[in-house]
Amino acid sequence: MLSRIAANITPSATVAITAKIAECRRSGIDVIGLNIGEPDFNTPANIGEAAKSAIDSGFTRYTAVSGILEIRKAIAEKLRMDNGLDYSPEQISVGTGAKQSLINGIQALCGEGDEVIIPTPCWVSYIEMVKMAGATPVLVQTYESERFALNLENVKKAITDKTKCVLINTPNNPTGAVYNKEVLRSLGELAVKHDFYVISDEIYEKLIYENKRHVSIASLSEAIKEKSLVINGFSKAYAMTGWRIGYVAGATEIVKAINSIQSHTTSNVNSISQMAAIEALRGSQDSIDNMIQTFDERRKFLFQRLNQIEGVQCAPADGAFYLMPNVSSYYGKSFKGTVIGNSVDMTEFILDQAKVAVVPGDAFQSPENIRVAYSNGIELISEGIDRLEKVLKLLK
Ligand SMILES: Cc1ncc(COP(=O)(O)O)c(C=O)c1O
Repeated sequence: MLSRIAANITPSATVAITAKIAECRRSGIDVIGLNIGEPDFNTPANIGEAAKSAIDSGFTRYTAVSGILEIRKAIAEKLRMDNGLDYSPEQISVGTGAKQSLINGIQALCGEGDEVIIPTPCWVSYIEMVKMAGATPVLVQTYESERFALNLENVKKAITDKTKCVLINTPNNPTGAVYNKEVLRSLGELAVKHDFYVISDEIYEKLIYENKRHVSIASLSEAIKEKSLVINGFSKAYAMTGWRIGYVAGATEIVKAINSIQSHTTSNVNSISQMAAIEALRGSQDSIDNMIQTFDERRKFLFQRLNQIEGVQCAPADGAFYLMPNVSSYYGKSFKGTVIGNSVDMTEFILDQAKVAVVPGDAFQSPENIRVAYSNGIELISEGIDRLEKVLKLLK
């Protein structure tokens, strides 16, 4: 019944866990959510006000597929100021979340017979998006012992004459790794030399700590920029997950193709979100600073607490709002006759016994780990980790 592509898609493991949590909550069980991939902050008020004005002034019709000129100008200003990137409004396409901009970019560049290199652990949707484009994902490992930094040797070994793209994400979901300038430059030089593209997902750009600086690979040379697609959005930096707005910037020809694809799927991003996003970019940035400070306090606290738990090791992470503790020392142990064989068993055990939701590392191709998000208040994080520590002691 199903098409070959549909039959080949794996449903997101994060969706499965969300359903199980909802079931617990419906039955009145108090679950602490350390699984959540969105900021627990409200969208700043000035952004909401801009949306209200858009409605009140009747700005509620179709717009250009790529987004109105004003938002593409505002994004171009942002890319210039924050990232040292010079893109014209024609080289920018606004999509329904970074998610749509990503799949548009992948579909514009990749198809049957192409290989896309994806460093793992990786975000849940990359592999499936590449498969949806008919291309083949080629997974290359990064290592916990190297704080999940991009491992160039592994990338080099994976390059073939079919390599069309490398898909990177810095700061990274799920590892929190922030790629440094040198490694990005080397990757960019490989792209130029071997004639492949780099799709660079920079959605967590603003959520960065320890005085680290986000570097966009496209800013490292004109030649690298030609081979790059920069993806970014508003969901994480401005707590705008529900507004569904993101963007891609790249070479004119590719962005034209992206606009054609989008013109036959969703057309434009809703007009109200576009007005809100202009205010996000041009209005006060104070709320971002407050949010980063809060995330940073939680990050330090969570890192320390996780590493205090017997049998748990957690690599430091400088970005996003996730940590990836290694819990594999518990694999093979059991509770009431049920053996914990992998990260999915572990996640279910933690949910059942501790009433704490985390995400199995298997969802990110990282079987030894679980992903713990600090997008929740510090009291709840603290309570969640206390509960986690307690139930791990039950495993024998
Ligand atoms: C790495 C990564 N890229 C892209 C997205 C999608 O973001 P958006 O809400 O803009 O579609 C997410 C959301 O979780 C993400 O974690």
